[in-house]
Amino acid sequence: MTIRIEKYSAAQLEPAIALLSDAFVTNPLHIAAFGSRRIDQNRLFFRIGLRHMFAGQAFVALVDDQVCGYVHFNASPYCLPAPEEIPTAVATLLKPLGEAIPNVINWFARWCHLDPEKPHVHLGPIGVAPELQRRGVGTALMNRYVEHLKQEQSAGYLETDRPENVEFYQKFGFVVQHEEQLIGTPTWYMWRRAENHNATV
Ligand SMILES: CC(C)(COP(=O)(O)OP(=O)(O)OC[C@H]1O[C@@H](n2cnc3c(N)ncnc32)[C@H](O)[C@@H]1OP(=O)(O)O)[C@@H](O)C(=O)NCCC(=O)NCCS
Repeated sequence: MTIRIEKYSAAQLEPAIALLSDAFVTNPLHIAAFGSRRIDQNRLFFRIGLRHMFAGQAFVALVDDQVCGYVHFNASPYCLPAPEEIPTAVATLLKPLGEAIPNVINWFARWCHLDPEKPHVHLGPIGVAPELQRRGVGTALMNRYVEHLKQEQSAGYLETDRPENVEFYQKFGFVVQHEEQLIGTPTWYMWRRAENHNATV
């Protein structure tokens, strides 16, 4: 299977929304926030995210010219809004999510609060179409991200809600920095040291 990684373009909005929603609909945090099998809510969430929130660098994975994977990363300190901006951002941008809003506020307020002050390039979201998972697409996307970290001599940071993802990210040099329950869901916060000779982080 040949996997091609290219820069995301707005023309790929619809397939990116579809694959991210399909990939994340069964993730514990998404179930806790939106409910079980709420593909509609996940599609709304990723439509808003792709249009307005994922403002850093984004890449897609293509197999047979079909978009089947997506990764976004953004450099701190602009990777997440300041905690005090969350309620306003959620009330305006994420208003269509309706009853999920209180959970989404708790979720993102916590992530913003824990976002490290040390410089880093923040990963997320990364997702692969379910029918193509475990075939190396996620690895190809992660390699693109890690290449960026090495080029920039930057540390990496991410949050995840699946234990199997912790092992996946460990393969790329991430270590668990903190673990806690977030809206009733185990969540891991992971860090990858900057690769430079003078690194102190
Ligand atoms: C996490 C994700 C991006 C990984 O992409 P992928 O294309 O499935 O990953 P790869 O095929 O490159 O997997 C590489 C290795 O990671 C590990 N791994 C990946 N997914 C795993 C899983 N569900 N269970 C156990 N190990 C897993 C395995 O060691 C795997 O190698 P193997 O298949 O030879 O055993 C993808 O599974 C996904 O989209 N998941 C749902 C959304 C999500 O959780 N995104 C991340 C949120 S933080």
